[in-house]
Amino acid sequence: MGEKARTVSASCVEMAEIVQPMDINIHGSIFGGHLMSLVDKAGGIAACRHSGTSVVTLSVDHLAFKNPAPVGTILSIKASVNRVFRTSMEAGVRVIGWKAGSDEETLICRAYITYVAVDEAKKPIPVRPIVPETSDQIRRWEEAGRRREARLALVSSLEERR
Ligand SMILES: CC(C)(COP(=O)(O)OP(=O)(O)OC[C@H]1O[C@@H](n2cnc3c(N)ncnc32)[C@H](O)[C@@H]1OP(=O)(O)O)[C@@H](O)C(=O)NCCC(=O)NCCS
Repeated sequence: MGEKARTVSASCVEMAEIVQPMDINIHGSIFGGHLMSLVDKAGGIAACRHSGTSVVTLSVDHLAFKNPAPVGTILSIKASVNRVFRTSMEAGVRVIGWKAGSDEETLICRAYITYVAVDEAKKPIPVRPIVPETSDQIRRWEEAGRRREARLALVSSLEERR
């Protein structure tokens, strides 16, 4: 693994999908578990591309299904690494949907996922730094720091209750 910093844009991911009859729930729109799998896949690929290592999914925060995506909806799943900590990094994933033949976009889902870079023995290893360049990337970098503090505080309060 090289230690040289890389930009956020260098590891951004955009995947396209279409909601098919086999992907839906009893309401006729995409099954949440299927969407979560796509979200984790996109975030994991971005984390893998940034780190240049294997990664594992550690935790998922703020996953919100904002609107249903009926059969035939075209999905664009965008993921990027918001911030690198030491061995962990936060990826942000956003899913936009639109009906075939329409230009109207709908926010379907968004989530923040923490991935950890691991070696062959599945032990955590440091991740090279990431450089946010645009104003949006800088804002996400700052917000990711606040989310990490909140996440770790929640984890330690839950552990104290055990
Ligand atoms: C991910 C894993 C390797 C971490 O191992 P560990 O011994 O807990 O590692 P550490 O305690 O050193 O923590 C590693 C990093 O995660 C962070 N972390 C630990 N618990 C966390 C939590 N609940 N939320 C967010 N970050 C957390 C630590 O702060 C550390 O980050 P940093 O190095 O950037 O500061 C281990 O928990 C694991 O193998 N989990 C299973 C992963 C898996 O199977 N995922 C599903 C399929 S991919």
